Amino acid sequence: MTPTSPTALAERFDLRHLSDAFYDDPFPTYHALREHAPVRRMPDGSVFLTRYADIVAVYKDPKTFSSDKHEEFGPKYGLDSALFEHHTTSLVFNDPPLHTRVRRLLAGALTPRHIGAMEDGLVRLVDGLLDAMQARAQRGEAVDLIEAFAAAIPVEIIGNLLGVPHAERGPLRDWSLAILGALEPALSDAMHTRGNAAVRDMLIYLEGLVERRAHAPGDPETDVLTRLIQGEVSTTERAADGATERLLAKELLHNCIFLLNAGHETTTNLIGNGLKCLLDAPEQKQRLLGEPELIRSAVEEFLRIESSNQLGNRITTVATAIGGVALAPGTQMTLCIGAANRDPAQFAHPDTLDIARMPNRHVAFGSGIHQCVGMGLARLEGRVAFQRFLARFPNYRLVGAAVRSKRVRFRGHLALPCALLG
Ligand code: HEM
Repeated sequence: MTPTSPTALAERFDLRHLSDAFYDDPFPTYHALREHAPVRRMPDGSVFLTRYADIVAVYKDPKTFSSDKHEEFGPKYGLDSALFEHHTTSLVFNDPPLHTRVRRLLAGALTPRHIGAMEDGLVRLVDGLLDAMQARAQRGEAVDLIEAFAAAIPVEIIGNLLGVPHAERGPLRDWSLAILGALEPALSDAMHTRGNAAVRDMLIYLEGLVERRAHAPGDPETDVLTRLIQGEVSTTERAADGATERLLAKELLHNCIFLLNAGHETTTNLIGNGLKCLLDAPEQKQRLLGEPELIRSAVEEFLRIESSNQLGNRITTVATAIGGVALAPGTQMTLCIGAANRDPAQFAHPDTLDIARMPNRHVAFGSGIHQCVGMGLARLEGRVAFQRFLARFPNYRLVGAAVRSKRVRFRGHLALPCALLG
């Protein structure tokens, strides 16, 4: 057995100790795990799942596989930390009924109709960024596609969704990177400190924003923050006494933080990863240029092959089994979306980018009751970004190293320096 044989890769895998080679390309390890240890017991007693069928089964049974994170995050962050309070109050890390209440409020402002109404503004935003990039390219400058493009789109779109004034959007991206960065399986002291500080700063900022919006509400049809502040009258309660399902102040603030963060790095990475995928597969780029109607299936394929969110988590509420492995109640589970989306039992030639792939039932947005509320918006952002970028700079090419962010949960790049050629 050589050190890099699939069996060795599977046996040596430890989520808390990962090599640079793994961050560059985790997929050989994921294939090895899926083949040799699809329900892999980790040194800390948790299990790591890599098969598509097992992961979908977990998503579909939220009673057995809970999203509650108190047990996991208590020891990780400390019970009195800002990160603990934030993550355990976010809808994504809660079960019903809190999850249901918050989700209903968010989903009502992110219907296909609302998202469709954002398209014109999004096109203007993207074209403005492309104009600025073109001006730099004409001066002979290389342009970092992450900073100038991929990261610049979601911050504006999510800022619009919550009505954050333009002049106040500056710190949003760093807060978001610090808070979501603290979800990494291995956490340094510096990441911990940065994450806690970001939650505290964001809480102070949002308290002020909520106060201003409560005095001058927006249209609750489209303004998510106004919707969350005003709450929503449930049908039964309206019939009873007109009471609302208002969120507690703490729930309101932490779910705003989550929303600002959830749509941020994930969408940046969709755009950055997609542009890099096309650089790596020039024949697919040529095909997309020749058949622009393939853009929708191309976006799905970028989401599948380079899933921006690679890991999810659940905890068992009762004794159960998955993939033939018995699990005690309270077992922490990591669902490897990145592995599921390259499972050959579900996807033919899973490591090959095929922009026309159909069907493509990937789980990049999860599945079941927690499936991404913002997926329609993310898809729209991706579609408009790729379409407009390729129409303007069909012959873009890398002029420096593509720098990967060394994260296992969120897969993306820190920099993609390119020459923008028409
Ligand atoms: C490419 C971009 C995106 C990806 C890959 C992504 C991925 C995901 C995944 C995998 C989940 C499920 C988590 C779980 O079940 O444990 C999720 C949940 C969520 N996402 Fe996204 N997301 C993206 C963009 C967005 C955007 C743009 C928004 C907001 C506008 C958003 C808001 C949310 C919310 C609120 C949840 C929690 C839903 C719930 O718990 O019911 N996401 N996302």
